[in-house]
Amino acid sequence: MNPRILSQEIVHGFYLLRVDDERVNYFEAIWSIPERVTYNAYLLVGDGEAVLFDGWKALYADDLIEAIRGIVSPRDLTHVVVHHVEPDHSGSLPKVLEANGFRAGVVAHPMAKPMIESFYKMSPRFRLVRDGEEISIAGEKIKILHTPWLHWPETMMSYLVGRKILVPCDAFGGYSIPRTVFDDDDAVVQEYLPSVRKYVATVIGFYRQHIIRNIEKLQGLQLDIGIVAPAHGLVWRKSPRLIIDYYRSLAEGHPDDNKILVVSGSMYGLMEKAARIVVEEVEKLGGRTASYWFNDLEQPSFSEIIGDAIDSRAIILAAPTYEAGVYPLIDYLVDLIVKKIPPKPVLILGSYGWAGAVTKRLSEKLAAAGFKIVETIEFKGSPSEEDAHRIRDGVRELLEQS
Ligand code: FEO
Repeated sequence: MNPRILSQEIVHGFYLLRVDDERVNYFEAIWSIPERVTYNAYLLVGDGEAVLFDGWKALYADDLIEAIRGIVSPRDLTHVVVHHVEPDHSGSLPKVLEANGFRAGVVAHPMAKPMIESFYKMSPRFRLVRDGEEISIAGEKIKILHTPWLHWPETMMSYLVGRKILVPCDAFGGYSIPRTVFDDDDAVVQEYLPSVRKYVATVIGFYRQHIIRNIEKLQGLQLDIGIVAPAHGLVWRKSPRLIIDYYRSLAEGHPDDNKILVVSGSMYGLMEKAARIVVEEVEKLGGRTASYWFNDLEQPSFSEIIGDAIDSRAIILAAPTYEAGVYPLIDYLVDLIVKKIPPKPVLILGSYGWAGAVTKRLSEKLAAAGFKIVETIEFKGSPSEEDAHRIRDGVRELLEQS
């Protein structure tokens, strides 16, 4: 099946080349994305020069070359800007340069050079650029901004001064295949934002302080940003401010209204009884739950849980003891949460058959990462009436303290 390719002029001489990757199941071979993803490259043409910004996954390299050919001959590319070396954007580089006869200069941060050389075992002609440098290509002045850890240390953005376009690569992108190219339709934007949230949480949540730092850097430069043209998802021309503010809000961990994340692991349904009491109590007190259930019938997606964790007001975890430790799926989830999610208030429920370990282990891990443990409740076997009271009290306390 041929991939869907979108080639569209965004403003005069500046084109989006987007491929919709409907084959990928697991982004970075980790994150489940049934909603899929797009890779967006951009082409700037003018004054006898042509600049390609980023590229697509290696799988789609031939398709990218064809898409370029629809606008200019690949041999006429004079520059290829590699903002970020992760192969969802740079995988097509060897074939593009081959089709170009290795005539183009590769514009990249100095840290990108050894990465490109080692990933692709090639040494093209580099034009290494540094933060704040301005280069004039294709009749446009391009300001280079080094934005480390968005998503790797070499990552940079381009700001096209004349056209007021920010080309930020991973930043301000999201999962899914939006129905449109632009953010013009509010319904499309509302449909898309949950996939942005999931993308931020899973891919760059670990680097959230750098999201904040780099957004502050952009604001400090007082760039007049008319269009944000990221490497995944929608191009923002109606509300470029919206996506920048949304990224900042996610990185800072601002809650979405009253959302309480509840995740339960239960081998035989005993802990699930307790977690059902939790959900009932949260909703009785006016909270909205996003709940996930690991049991003998289902294993929810870690990507979805992490995506819901990032803008939750508080988190409730419920797990039984397993091999003198924590039920492993919740243990793994907490490992992800402490790395990728800004600290939130937490309530922990643990159960055991003969000796408990869950509340102690999880509290230690979460507290070390700055999470506030509002309450821990441990019980033996199935929750008793008294345990149910403690659980309800614990939920009330959590909502009061969050
Ligand atoms: Fe979309 Fe970090 O690559």
